[in-house]
Amino acid sequence: MLVAAAAGAALAACSGKKGAQAAQAPGQTATPVTVETAGIASPATDAGTGAPDGRQIYQRCATCHQPTGLGIPGAFPPLAGSEWASAADAGVPIRIVLHGLEGPITVKGQKFNSAMPAYGTNQPMNDAEVAAVLTYVRSSWGNKGGAVTAAAVHTVREATAARKTAWKAADLEPLLHAAH
Ligand code: HEC
Repeated sequence: MLVAAAAGAALAACSGKKGAQAAQAPGQTATPVTVETAGIASPATDAGTGAPDGRQIYQRCATCHQPTGLGIPGAFPPLAGSEWASAADAGVPIRIVLHGLEGPITVKGQKFNSAMPAYGTNQPMNDAEVAAVLTYVRSSWGNKGGAVTAAAVHTVREATAARKTAWKAADLEPLLHAAH
């Protein structure tokens, strides 16, 4: 009896502690540290210049492509060292971000066959935000893809406005190779 009572007291103390921790959680979520918060927050701007902050917007991508840009083998392709992300023709990654991508693709010699959401339509990112996040991706982790301007994103957005479905890698391969 005494043991059971002590155990009960310990349990109560334990759950009491959990309750206290849970009570702190809402305070923590008020700061934009979670991926969920970053995904909804818009637009993420650089405090100094007011321009979109590519590193912060990248948190949306990092859910899948990881903060390291290395992706997850078999599931999410790498952006670090990717010939698609840093294509000489920035229209390649711009198209992918605006309309999404699905089906088989080979990145750095690894095969993937999955789907990426479109950011131009169902989770809107404006031209400056797409430019900022791609500039971040193309200049991080040793990538040397070069900056992407909002004007370039605008041009591609207009040129591909009729597109209603995700790209297939095969659609973009001509652009990838033409630029080399
Ligand atoms: C929900 C998961 C997810 C998110 C979020 C996501 N991607 Fe992707 N991305 C993928 C998948 C999966 C593929 C490969 C699709 C396929 O198999 O055809 C891909 C492919 C790519 C590619 C071409 C292949 C490569 O690895 O270079 C680029 C570039 C890219 N994503 C950039 C981005 C950027 C930039 C963001 C953020 C704005 C982003 N992705 C957000 C899942 C995601």
